[in-house]
Amino acid sequence: MARYAAITGTGSYLPEKILTNFDLEKIVDTNDEWIRQRTGIVERRIAEPDMATSDLCVRAARQAIKMAEIDPLDIDMIMVCTVTPDSFFPSTACYVQQGIGAKNAYAFDLSAACAGFIYGLDLADGMIRSGRYQTILVIGGEVFNKIIDWTDRNTCVLFGDAAGAAIVQGTDAAKGILASYVGSDGDYADVDLLGMPAGGSRLPASHETVDQKLHTIKMRGREVFKLGVRIMPEAAQRVLDLAGVTIDDIDLFIPHQANARIIEAVRDRLGFDPEKVYVNVDKYGNTSAATTIIALDEAIREGRAKTGDLILMVTFGAGLTWGSTVIRL
Ligand code: UT7
Repeated sequence: MARYAAITGTGSYLPEKILTNFDLEKIVDTNDEWIRQRTGIVERRIAEPDMATSDLCVRAARQAIKMAEIDPLDIDMIMVCTVTPDSFFPSTACYVQQGIGAKNAYAFDLSAACAGFIYGLDLADGMIRSGRYQTILVIGGEVFNKIIDWTDRNTCVLFGDAAGAAIVQGTDAAKGILASYVGSDGDYADVDLLGMPAGGSRLPASHETVDQKLHTIKMRGREVFKLGVRIMPEAAQRVLDLAGVTIDDIDLFIPHQANARIIEAVRDRLGFDPEKVYVNVDKYGNTSAATTIIALDEAIREGRAKTGDLILMVTFGAGLTWGSTVIRL
């Protein structure tokens, strides 16, 4: 039975179309200076109208499969972590399964908002450690532009589209996911705090819900900001303790990329050297479940994350959900 779950391949897909802060100035009452100062975001990627989340995920998955040097038929399980699925059902993961030809897998979606990918990694780790499965594809993918209210400057400047994928495989070598800490607090389950009010069984789609733009993301940004700054350092410290390591042991810290000011606050609370903190929110905005995995993939491909490095990742999102993990690459 494999004792560790290692990340043997990563991949990502960023749509080609770039939407800059200056482009947004033409759409809503905002400006580049405000967005940069308050969020650190300079531009974000936008998927074409005919692209659904699974289209991004398939592209990211193919890269991860290539890096891991596996056959899609080796994959036992596919998890797509997303809050912007192609459809409620079938799951986005089933479309991905078809797209990559992973006939031997079972496939499902996981809904934990921005914390989705870390939830997925934790589940993959448990499944591999249990001995039931050997090769798992975990994807974080979102097409946020389709659920954005492009007249709401409080939210439309923040999000972007992306997908990132990881192949997680059982190994006897002492590497991979060393510890995870995931949690949620349903006391914060509030669609107006952070969520999409309509389209589900609480408020099914109707002419009224469409007229009132209730199929778009709603957020009370300042409250969410404070929650993030509180919960991410806690989750990070908890997983460091579980892994039996300290901040000094970490080679690269990959926090959820929602806002550069949140990242700085979390970094300072934990006492990280800025050079050890990976930031790409300036280029991609908040891509929700995709942020940590597209950052990890980018860091690997840039050589900033190397074999043997110790990586700390931490996220938080709607729910409230949070997750952190320590990985030996
Ligand atoms: O993955 C987790 C999901 N989300 C997040 O993590 C987001 C967390 N929250 C945030 O990142 C920040 O709260 C925001 C970036 C959303 C907002 O920044 P803030 O510093 O908390 O600003 P604020 O909401 O307190 O708004 C300050 C002012 C307001 O004007 P008044 O009332 O002071 O006149 C807003 O109307 O800034 C105004 N404002 C804008 N101005 C220009 C809000 N959005 C914009 C905008 N452009 N896009």
